[in-house]
Amino acid sequence: MKVLGIAASPRRGGNTDILLAELLRGAASRGAETETVVLSQLRYETCTHCDVCLKTGQCNIKDDMRQVYRDLEEADVIVLASPIQFMGLTAHLKAMIDRCQAFWARKYALKQPPLQPDKPRKGFFIAVGGTKLKNLFEPALAVVRTFFHILNVEYAGELLFKGVDEKGAIRQHPDALRQACEAGKRLGEEG
Ligand SMILES: Cc1cc2nc3c(=O)[nH]c(=O)nc-3n(C[C@H](O)[C@H](O)[C@H](O)COP(=O)(O)O)c2cc1C
Repeated sequence: MKVLGIAASPRRGGNTDILLAELLRGAASRGAETETVVLSQLRYETCTHCDVCLKTGQCNIKDDMRQVYRDLEEADVIVLASPIQFMGLTAHLKAMIDRCQAFWARKYALKQPPLQPDKPRKGFFIAVGGTKLKNLFEPALAVVRTFFHILNVEYAGELLFKGVDEKGAIRQHPDALRQACEAGKRLGEEG
């Protein structure tokens, strides 16, 4: 059982990093192998819409996304952890998702499984926003649900926290870290 955490904040050690670490700690306590990919440490281009993937099922750009593709394919559980920025995902995560167009091409143009090997996978979303706006997470959720749907990854849940802005403020939340750890335990057990 491999749980892949994708840390999408540009702020290292911030609120989403803390929650992701707790979730992975919970998963590891149930015997799962865990790995964290820190997007801000990678160098990758945005999708150029070259359409090569429509024919090959592979992205034609050779950069750090190659390792991310391998990590996504190996994972049994994929956890995306992003702060809300300008009502959406961080640019790092949106760029990563757009670079997964090759998986869309495999599925819809080439009629292949998007991720290989073709196995059951689960997806989970962690998000934190500084404001308390009513529909704060809706735009990000639409993208995340679409991403998991395209990759044939079953959406297994989310942890969304509003009104958390300062670096590390999530530690003051009465229950958030426990919730993250518990979610990790569940995912680590069930896959
Ligand atoms: C560029 C930028 C844009 C942001 N946009 C929003 C926003 O639209 N809505 C919101 O509630 N918070 C917004 N925030 C606040 C972050 O979501 C908040 O500080 C969050 O706790 C950061 O999480 P992190 O510590 O994991 O980076 C923004 C922060 C930055 C730096």
